[in-house]
Amino acid sequence: MLAIIGGSGLTQLGNLEISRRQLVRTPYGDPSGALTFGRMGGQEVVFLARHGYGHTIPPHLVNYRANIHALVEAAGASRIVSVASVGGIRADLEPGKLLVPHQIIDYTWGRQMSFHDRTDREVVHIDFTHPYDEALRRQLLAAAAAAGQSIVDGAVYAATQGPRLETAAEIERLARDGADIVGMTGMPEASLAREAGCPYAALAVVANWAAGRGDSQAMIHFSGIEAVLQESMGRVRQLLDQIGSEPAG
Ligand code: HPA
Repeated sequence: MLAIIGGSGLTQLGNLEISRRQLVRTPYGDPSGALTFGRMGGQEVVFLARHGYGHTIPPHLVNYRANIHALVEAAGASRIVSVASVGGIRADLEPGKLLVPHQIIDYTWGRQMSFHDRTDREVVHIDFTHPYDEALRRQLLAAAAAAGQSIVDGAVYAATQGPRLETAAEIERLARDGADIVGMTGMPEASLAREAGCPYAALAVVANWAAGRGDSQAMIHFSGIEAVLQESMGRVRQLLDQIGSEPAG
């Protein structure tokens, strides 16, 4: 079972033949919405809109634990593809680019970031050297190639707290830290998937230049973002269709 978590601009999958929706309760509370089950490109898929189907849940209030628990434990997901919109920091990552990040720097705080939150159990430290599953990253890259789409292999994803966008100085600092793209939802989603033992990779769509870069020198203009996301998510859907039609890796 392939799980897809859709972010901003992807609250539904047009090419998913929906078979059923299921409301799931978890020990960590409610996920962002009902799980949507269906078939895509000949493969079973479960879809969840990260911000809710009405796009009402901001990044810092997403119940990441409930989402991952629902997908892995209730739906039986064996791999999770996260679709996320990001700001471009690196000079070649302009709006509209698709990428498969390979590393993460976590700047979030105050989020429920672990399933291991009890003091009466043995302490668990997951390995997180390579935060994304390499085989799943390769599948995403291969799916893009099969769909005839250009995609960037590798980027360092900076996860910021939000919901506000960054200052220009904050983006400069992220760049000095080695970050290429910035988003608000990549963590703790990725580490929770690792804790749950489920391969996880991300498909990032550059929605805008990060603060102080490109045409975001003076401010970030939201008017352009929607058009970029709408066009890009069309490509994302095609690409996901391809990954759906490939045998599970
Ligand atoms: N910053 C943080 N998160 C984002 C951005 C950004 O510029 N664009 C889309 N998600």
